[in-house]
Amino acid sequence: MCGIVGYIGSEKAAPKLIDGLKKLEYRGYDSAGIAVLDGGVLRLEKRCGMVSELEYAACLSGNAGIGHTRWATHGVPSQANAHPHACGKFALVHNGIIENYGDLREELESEGRVFLSDTDSEAVVQLIDKYYEGDFLRAVKRAVERLSGSFAIVVLCADFPHEIVCARRRSPLVVGRGKKGAYIASDIPAAAESAEEIYVLSDGEFAVVSDREVAFYDGDLRRKTKKKAEYDRQKDIVALNGYRHFMRKEIDEIPLSVRNSLLKIAENNEYRNIYEVLCLTEQIQIVACGTAYHSGLAAKYAIEALARVPVEVCVASEYRYRNPVVKRGTLVIAVSQSGETADTIAAAELAKKLGAALLAVTNVPYSSLTTVADYVLFTVAGREIAVAATKSYNAQLASLYSIALALAKIRRQRAGKKTLFALPNLCKKVLPSVEAVRGWTPHFVGAESVYFIGRGVDYAAALEGSLKLKEISYIPSEGYPAGELKHGTLALVRENTPVVAIVTQRRLVEKTMNAVNEVYSRGAKVFLITCFPEICGRKEVFSSVLIPKCREAFSPVLSVVPLQALSYYTALARGNDPDKPRNLAKSVTVE
Ligand code: F6R
Repeated sequence: MCGIVGYIGSEKAAPKLIDGLKKLEYRGYDSAGIAVLDGGVLRLEKRCGMVSELEYAACLSGNAGIGHTRWATHGVPSQANAHPHACGKFALVHNGIIENYGDLREELESEGRVFLSDTDSEAVVQLIDKYYEGDFLRAVKRAVERLSGSFAIVVLCADFPHEIVCARRRSPLVVGRGKKGAYIASDIPAAAESAEEIYVLSDGEFAVVSDREVAFYDGDLRRKTKKKAEYDRQKDIVALNGYRHFMRKEIDEIPLSVRNSLLKIAENNEYRNIYEVLCLTEQIQIVACGTAYHSGLAAKYAIEALARVPVEVCVASEYRYRNPVVKRGTLVIAVSQSGETADTIAAAELAKKLGAALLAVTNVPYSSLTTVADYVLFTVAGREIAVAATKSYNAQLASLYSIALALAKIRRQRAGKKTLFALPNLCKKVLPSVEAVRGWTPHFVGAESVYFIGRGVDYAAALEGSLKLKEISYIPSEGYPAGELKHGTLALVRENTPVVAIVTQRRLVEKTMNAVNEVYSRGAKVFLITCFPEICGRKEVFSSVLIPKCREAFSPVLSVVPLQALSYYTALARGNDPDKPRNLAKSVTVE
């Protein structure tokens, strides 16, 4: 989703901005642009397409500048709609959505102002220009007071060549200071390379960034001090290290992500407060989106099986607009790799307002979700660059299973600690399945549609397998409960339709194999992922991949691995870039 960078200092801004935009490419975007201030003159360059298209602009001179990668929300991807947007002496980049932009635009147009784009963001720079009476910061503040919705904005003003003004409400923004100037970015790693100190802007704050200092202000423009963020640059270095794509590398990082994310919550004092809230927990609601929602679904089976605590799993964008019932003893767990997903944060805020205890499970320290939550558990997957989530899903499962284990202990249920802590090793053992499914891709590459079926935990894994396939291979696919097929979806199965069946629960083997027989009888080609070797050779199975056995409640952490790999290799075979699927963004900071 939109990425913001800024630089002011002793060096030329343009090359730094373009470099910064490249670091944000992983977020997903459709156009890019920069603005630099050169001797009191604003110069803008923007392009549809990749940041590389903008490299020519690196020659612009000027020591202050802002840059942006845009993921279209209001207005098609086009040069006119790309950021920065300019008005009078101002240039602005924006991440977020201005909900009242229609009204603002009407008002501004009725005053004779002319808009050059279809974006909501342009209304903000027009407002700043309208309110400007010589005080840059005050003009930004007055404009911001008129906005509803979410924003991180960074503004240049031709009258203030030594300052950049930033403001934030519900969209991420960080400021870094280094020897050669100050750096602004949407996430810490993009600002951190040359910065020695990093500050994370909080909601409602302003920052005035100059080459010599960074000053922070509250909503009433009272100066405030801010603590530096703790950040280990070394830990965050990401490189392909010989891999062709981050997605493939991140699949190989699953065993380590799982190992690092498993916790002994009940036995470690560091998690005392979480343990205490688990002691008071009567029911759980998990709110999340996409893959994180699927990890919640898979974890529901484990929490209910191990601890007998009822779990409801809710798509965050639905939860936030319904009237959820939050009773005494409700723990809401908001799961988000990025910690910046707008819907998940809104759902979490609502849950908190309704009186729930709120636990965030996220991979990103200092993310917005961590500031909303009462308690935070970090998954330790390391940075995930590929848009399609892989290792973060497995890490989320490890964290959620750790919660299940603690709850089981509290409720004196048989916990299964040994089986849980065996998972990292089993994750290593499942990695050969990544190459094993490669041979399946010729049967998927031209498919009109693909179905993933399973029961219970295998259904949860099927949903994730299907999401992965559609998002990077662009093949329509559906994850379905095996027993539901005959109630409708079976009508779509034809000669050679690929159907992936996941079978990891002993007592459900024959039940799922009934569904396999049903699709086989209608001409489907059945691909099996199972831990039971004895069913691999059945005539209805076209090809199979054997995965290690583990406690059934935990099996999605293993069965998902060949599914992730299948989507990767199918995307490759179709000529797609698996790391950067069309239309999608890594960090969905708008609703
Ligand atoms: C799919 C994928 C998305 C994210 C979803 C939530 O591969 O990555 O579905 O899982 O956008 O993102 P987070 O976990 O950052 O809240």
